[in-house]
Amino acid sequence: MDSNDKTTWKERTHMPAHRYELVSSFAPKAWEAMCDLLGGEERIEPQCSAWGDSFIVNLGTEKHAKMYEDMTAKKPVTTGDDMMHPADFDNWHVDGDFFVHFLDSPEQALLAIPIFSPIELLSGGTYIGVVPTGGGFASVNASFLNWGAPLRKDEIPHLQNLNPRDDPTYMSPAPYPPAPHPERFAYDEVITHAPGMRFTELTGAVGDVILMHPLMLHSASHNWRRALRVITNLAVSLKEPFVLDRAPGEQGKYTLVEQKTLMALGAWDSGAKGLTGWKITGERRRIVPERVAAYTKREEEERKRMADWAEKTQKIQGVASVPASVSIMG
Ligand SMILES: [Fe+2]
Repeated sequence: MDSNDKTTWKERTHMPAHRYELVSSFAPKAWEAMCDLLGGEERIEPQCSAWGDSFIVNLGTEKHAKMYEDMTAKKPVTTGDDMMHPADFDNWHVDGDFFVHFLDSPEQALLAIPIFSPIELLSGGTYIGVVPTGGGFASVNASFLNWGAPLRKDEIPHLQNLNPRDDPTYMSPAPYPPAPHPERFAYDEVITHAPGMRFTELTGAVGDVILMHPLMLHSASHNWRRALRVITNLAVSLKEPFVLDRAPGEQGKYTLVEQKTLMALGAWDSGAKGLTGWKITGERRRIVPERVAAYTKREEEERKRMADWAEKTQKIQGVASVPASVSIMG
């Protein structure tokens, strides 16, 4: 694509990683926060201690830019809601396409989003959908299990044994209560119908890092202004599953993410502090998503483009080759 010709721009490009850096040296404050949220560095999978340059670039589309332009001709626009309500986005999800999800799944213990370009409103920032809880703060969407109401204890084993991959709502537990439109993702049902659902567009400066609870429902949004938007999104995994049923004397050991999950399920402030009897019963397994094969192909294509560009540039300008670790947006 040509940086000067918007007609050649693609809306969203997920680039493969070529180079990795330790989070502790690249983003030490973020690393410290990740360790705080998850109960210490020793609990985090070592391979999650490095981030790659797998940039996600959102450049918007002509169609959405036109919708924005038309709306600004009618009135001042300060929110994307003027063009499209966030509940109508088709991308609501939680991350983790490489494993079967359970409430205590360690594979995606946090979602980290480092920001590599300034993200202002209306510029393709990630949206989150949250609901208020009894605790008075917006819930992570463990509420998608219970729509904001505390679970009855007898419902918990049912949820433990769900195998989301065998369900049309793959990647999420089945909706509760059952979805009126089962062909839709459970996420969409929650986003559309959960009482009090509200939406926030995440903005930020270069160097900011968003750390999100693993069950926080979020969605890509439209880049109405067609401003360059560059982020990465990275899974932070634990060595062991979250613990949701600690013994009375051990309750001080709940991590902040575990606490938040329990709060969203109404199993924190009631005095019980935990899901009594919670234990692993369902089969835990990893999945190789189609995305991995697509990334391998994209990486090969990207390396070839870089090699071609280096050769061409050398011939024209006599400059050195581009190292293989440098990514060129395609
Ligand atoms: Fe995501």
